Amino acid sequence: MRPPSRDLVRRFQRRLLAWYAHHRRDLPWRHTRQPYRVLVSEVMLQQTQVDRVIPKYREFLRRYPTIHHLARARVEAVRRLWYPLGYNIRPVRLHAIARETVARYGGRLPDDAAALRRLPGIGRYTAGAVLSFAYGRDAAVLDTNVRRVLGRVFLGPRRLARVRGERAFWDLAEVLVPRGRAYDFNQALMDFGATWCTPRKPKCPRCPMRGFCATVAAF
Ligand code: ADE
Repeated sequence: MRPPSRDLVRRFQRRLLAWYAHHRRDLPWRHTRQPYRVLVSEVMLQQTQVDRVIPKYREFLRRYPTIHHLARARVEAVRRLWYPLGYNIRPVRLHAIARETVARYGGRLPDDAAALRRLPGIGRYTAGAVLSFAYGRDAAVLDTNVRRVLGRVFLGPRRLARVRGERAFWDLAEVLVPRGRAYDFNQALMDFGATWCTPRKPKCPRCPMRGFCATVAAF
């Protein structure tokens, strides 16, 4: 797939960051850059809605305030605390990550993608989130919200129907990250997908991307 022009990339970046300055959600994990806290929030958010994650994130960190506390815990206790969030392989993996990080890295989560992805259950998404949110690296993130936004704005319905797999979306997500601004940009993409460019009834009439959105142009 042809990458978007530099001009389009810049417009999207500028507009998204401007939108975020007004519409950002104040979420507890946006008050920290601690890699462990970022990791806990992102693992919780992978399959669970923000509203349900917030109280559990706070409870989890009260019980296990550092990666060392989590590594020392019994996995059964971690599972019990996590239980109402569902998808209960996640606490087991998080616990394994904590143990491995303490054993191998003295408790400091790695700051490179390859080492992060060798940890249990850390895929490209979680690695990108830790790198951009905790370490300020120019890494991309792609989840279902981000994929929907990028597909709508940059591809539109016809090209979207022909895309198979994730590769094209990751390539796009990487091209879009503005240098030095990955933290805000990635948080913004998530809020934009969750609150504006929603699956049903997106806010197209008030959308800052409508002037160049491939989906708006197709209708
Ligand atoms: N979903 C996944 N990560 C998120 C984040 N950092 N903020 C809001 N929603 C998210």
